Amino acid sequence: MKLDDKALKEKYDHFMLKEILEQPAVLRDTIDDRIRPGVGGKSIDLGEMNLDAEWLAQVHNIYIAACGTSYHAGLVGKYAIEGLTGIHVEVDLASEFRYRNPLLGDKTLVVVISQSGETADTLEAMRMAKEKGARILAVVNVEDSTIPQEAHHVLYTRAGVEVAVASTKAYVTQLAAMYLIAGYFAQQLNTIPRGEIDAIASALKEIPEKTEEAMGLSWSMRGLAPSLASKSSCFYTGRCLDYPVAMEGSLKLKEITYIHATPYAAGELKHGTLALIEEGVPVVAVATQEHVYDRMYGNLQELIDRGAYTIGVTCEGNNALGEIVDRAVHVPKTLLSPIVSVIPLQFLAYYTAVEKGTNIDKPRNLTKSVRHE
Ligand code: AGP
Repeated sequence: MKLDDKALKEKYDHFMLKEILEQPAVLRDTIDDRIRPGVGGKSIDLGEMNLDAEWLAQVHNIYIAACGTSYHAGLVGKYAIEGLTGIHVEVDLASEFRYRNPLLGDKTLVVVISQSGETADTLEAMRMAKEKGARILAVVNVEDSTIPQEAHHVLYTRAGVEVAVASTKAYVTQLAAMYLIAGYFAQQLNTIPRGEIDAIASALKEIPEKTEEAMGLSWSMRGLAPSLASKSSCFYTGRCLDYPVAMEGSLKLKEITYIHATPYAAGELKHGTLALIEEGVPVVAVATQEHVYDRMYGNLQELIDRGAYTIGVTCEGNNALGEIVDRAVHVPKTLLSPIVSVIPLQFLAYYTAVEKGTNIDKPRNLTKSVRHE
């Protein structure tokens, strides 16, 4: 390790841990000055994007294209934007989007998400969409990287420099950006009552504090790591908004522990994957969506009946999950659940990798910015 790397890491063993713990601060930086007090409640100010309401009102459809963790942020973005604006949103892996024939035109908005702003597939997907007449909104962390230079509109996340290959703090700021954009579009288009805009804006304002509370889960996740480190494979599951969180949690585990980890939408388990469940197979279940609690409990029971070792992530106040799973952890309640529920999963991956002694900040075969195809 270079001396300056050591200094940058301060007291932490790894950049990844430092970056997980920085999440409340970078969320504050990304959100704070974009929420304004207003008549009838708080409002969201993304005037910096220069996306006029008149053009927005004509938008037929929105595509979100991104890779890896940024793609997972896009999946949450779909829920947020569709839910608040009623505009149809499709989310594509940039590496697929660029080689298919998406329905693009001058009334299409393409949102590209990239921490680095340099990912080759995302850049080429953007160029292709631009050429076909679509407008491009780039959500990027690294200022003056290539993607924001070529996009029509830009929203910067403010996660600061992320050194660890496994993205953590950039991811939560991308999630915050998705909610900011969804709330801002809804506000511009008047698609939801004023009170709901205030609720989203207030939830955004409070989210740094909620993530601070979630940092307290570090120790319980550390306790689970030794047993997970001895396994060769693991599953993640969830429904609705919890499914992208399960995808992100499983990607974190794979990247830095090299344990095979696959995410499944809980309702899909019985369509094949259940065959892989036997005594002691770990399953991490994210269950923060109240309207599907009962369905999740049913899915979990099927896993438990086949011997799975289950770890559940749910919201404070939901004690029912703890009665079903082997270990339950509770995250603070918020409208923006994906931002807090991913935190225990980041810790779980991190401490499991510590147990395994892998190269956490620079996992084998991976690079921070994938500039080639
Ligand atoms: C995340 O932990 C990964 N390192 C990876 O999936 C990453 O998110 C992906 O390569 C996209 O990178 P970008 O956000 O810089 O475009």
